[in-house]
Amino acid sequence: MSGAPISGFIFLGPPGAGKGTQAEIIAKKLGLAKIATGDILREAVRNKTRLGKIAEDYMKRGELVPDDLMLSLVKETLRKIKVGFILDGFPRTVRQAEGLQKMLKEEGAELKKVILIDAQDQVIIDRLSKRRVCPKCGAVYNLITNPPKNDEICDRCGSELVTRDDDRPETVKRRLEVYREKTQALIKYYNDKGILFEVDGNGDLNKVFERILEVMT
Ligand code: AP5
Repeated sequence: MSGAPISGFIFLGPPGAGKGTQAEIIAKKLGLAKIATGDILREAVRNKTRLGKIAEDYMKRGELVPDDLMLSLVKETLRKIKVGFILDGFPRTVRQAEGLQKMLKEEGAELKKVILIDAQDQVIIDRLSKRRVCPKCGAVYNLITNPPKNDEICDRCGSELVTRDDDRPETVKRRLEVYREKTQALIKYYNDKGILFEVDGNGDLNKVFERILEVMT
């Protein structure tokens, strides 16, 4: 990053709260770059890179990938960013948050707001059991709330949709536990800095979108 200071947002919240869906739409609307660590890791797994081979096992179990790996991954990605950004799924631990703060300082960039998108456990479980993703272009659907036009076929690229490995009920349960054990501490961390804004992630996709946009702008 260089020139005028670049600023960005973090989308924080439990799995299935709608972070990725909303980050995609809002990044396009506001001309921001979306940095989704889950997407980057899944691509690395697909391409069988060194990072992908390490990350795969953690992801399948619903555990977090080690902080050091995540920090170097995000550092590399942030360096290439020339516009404002939304971080989706990073940071997830206090150590990652501290690392991010250092990185942003080094790059002369700043964090504007942290948007906490929360939803009830049952809503999350229902959403994730019906999520389907495109293995080719990464598009995300929901068989109930955001279905593809043709039965389990991607609207964008025509590929057959799949269920994410970590959307099996037992892995979802573990991901929720991990969120509570490790990521929820970030709520206090960013609240203490005065930049945390909570948005209700329950309910209709468009309503959630409007709530987030109101807080961001
Ligand atoms: P990641 O991909 O980041 O998963 P996550 O945080 O668990 O979040 P999800 O993608 O499951 O949910 P989301 O909130 O984005 O919901 P979505 O919009 O898709 O991480 C996966 C794994 O990678 C981690 O478990 C870990 O192993 C590793 N990892 C990633 N980052 C890491 C890091 N920083 N450190 C360490 N490890 C890391 O929506 C869900 C579904 O609901 C969709 O079907 C969608 O269509 C639907 N939906 C969304 N909003 C609504 C709505 N309002 N109404 C109805 N349906 C909705």
